[in-house]
Amino acid sequence: MLKNARRTHTCGELRPDHAGQTVVVQGWAQNARDMGGVVFVNLRDRNGLVQVVADERSPEAVRQAAAGVHLEYVVEVEGVVQLRASPNPKLPTGMIEIVASSVKILSRTPPLPFSIEGHISANEDLRLQYRYLDLRRPEVQKNLVARHRAAIAVRKYMDAEGFVEVETPVLTKATPEGARDYLVPSRVHAGQWYALPQSPQLFKQILMVAGMDRYFQIVKCFRDEDLRADRQPEFTQIDIEMSFATREMVMELATNVVKTLWNEIGGHTVPEIPVISYTEAITRFGVDAPDTRFGMEHTVVTELLRNTEFSVIRGLLDAGGIAKAFVVKGGGASVSRKQLDAWTGFVKSYKLGGLMYGKVGAPWTGPLSKLSEAELSAIAAATGAVEGDLVLLGAGNPNAVNAGLGKLRPAVAKELGVVPPGYSFVWVVDFPSFEKDEESGRWMAVHHPFTSPRPEAIPLLGTGREGEMFADAYDIVCNGYEIGGGSIRIHDPDVQAKVFSTIGLTDEEAKMKFGFLLDALRHGAPPHGGLAFGFDRIIMLLCGTDNIRDVIAFPKTTSAQDLMSGAPSPVDAGQLKELYVRNTNEG
Ligand code: AMO
Repeated sequence: MLKNARRTHTCGELRPDHAGQTVVVQGWAQNARDMGGVVFVNLRDRNGLVQVVADERSPEAVRQAAAGVHLEYVVEVEGVVQLRASPNPKLPTGMIEIVASSVKILSRTPPLPFSIEGHISANEDLRLQYRYLDLRRPEVQKNLVARHRAAIAVRKYMDAEGFVEVETPVLTKATPEGARDYLVPSRVHAGQWYALPQSPQLFKQILMVAGMDRYFQIVKCFRDEDLRADRQPEFTQIDIEMSFATREMVMELATNVVKTLWNEIGGHTVPEIPVISYTEAITRFGVDAPDTRFGMEHTVVTELLRNTEFSVIRGLLDAGGIAKAFVVKGGGASVSRKQLDAWTGFVKSYKLGGLMYGKVGAPWTGPLSKLSEAELSAIAAATGAVEGDLVLLGAGNPNAVNAGLGKLRPAVAKELGVVPPGYSFVWVVDFPSFEKDEESGRWMAVHHPFTSPRPEAIPLLGTGREGEMFADAYDIVCNGYEIGGGSIRIHDPDVQAKVFSTIGLTDEEAKMKFGFLLDALRHGAPPHGGLAFGFDRIIMLLCGTDNIRDVIAFPKTTSAQDLMSGAPSPVDAGQLKELYVRNTNEG
């Protein structure tokens, strides 16, 4: 390894067998204590922490220099490694210390806005503003190193499987992945715009037409969408495409990528990953990215309550609604009224009218006790609820019931502390090809519009029965996070044109937006398919955090700002003029 000009060792690597050696270390002062003539400085670099002492064994000038060291000063220390009189077993270097023979301050700092500690209480906005200080924390550095190792592991695995990493453009045309585009105005072509890619979807398909056979790329994608703890406006994908592939081949390859990453970075063996259909996921969990680490699965109880005299439920079912329930084991005793009210408020935010609950007993208590004995017994039998359990029930519009109870399930599990540690994966397949946009009443592609319908569904295109079509698409989910998704693509230009027309694109529009893809498909396109992983989400899971910003060096806030650089920010009127852009916000 390249030797540092002065440094002989990193701070974290000194051990008792270095005792007696003269060493030079460089780093940041984690703390500095002047105990009246004896100065202790803990020096930190990316590799760890080492104690430096300047006492009567050091020259007076060195003691004085050490006394001038303050928190987070950058310091170079030369000295002899000695065994410590009182070792610190918590520190890997805790058996030794460096007795300073020279202390040089290389750089100073005013007092910091927050201290560089493992568990930090400083507000995240402040940490993001001073990201270079936040990044000094070993915790965050560990995450970035894990990310680096993961990228290397992926590249090694993909290379061994014959995949070639090809870069695709950042200044390009819009790719529809369901979000708004970030647009870049062209200076050379007045009034024309590039879009930043929401994914390299079209380019990777074109690489298949180009005969690249197996492509991958660790690549930035850009989406202007509402941000959450697991979403960033620019994020990284492990993007994959292969020719002559079946869905099973892509899923096997992706499973191997997951196994490699979890094994090499997480030290975790991933068992066989179950495969369930979208319909099963919605029925059992209410959502298409279920957390399968714990039970509390949903039971559909619509038919059990079809003729109920409980008028609220009856009204909802008669209006075409469904009813689902899930059980909180032993919850009757431990769940408070306040919690139930909070859960009701929670499901309402998913447009579910309310949450009905019943504590199982003789008699049942809670709103569900208005059901008949027979209905309550049937619910208990169907859900497996026994005395002392709490049954939570939602009724109404199917989407609202599924979304409300589907989001409530993991929230309740988390609140009650019943989520076991570890990882649970599931593949979800056979998504519907299209769904109706409730506002416009138009069909929309559930994945993107390049996803092939299942072969048996293709004849339904253009028949008005598009709602019955299933797609050759698959998502991989870990602990309730969608960590990857993909599909077998349409390689027949006529089928592609029909799909565009189903989602309401005229021939003209299709040609304008995706003409180059349709053209490419007409020039000898192999059957192909692929998938993209959310790299940041994977690293987030592997690093045991639920905040995606913890694994990105320079992330944006949930309002899409970079608090360190101050982006986005206004630009000169002159620059705008050059780009033929006018700021309509300034009146
Ligand atoms: P999709 O849109 O499902 O598929 O994206 C693939 C994966 O990327 C991750 N992801 C995100 N991560 C962080 N922030 C975001 N804003 C964000 N959006 C998505 C998710 C998701 O599973 N072109 C297709 C893939 C294909 O069909 O091959 C695509 O982009 O983990």
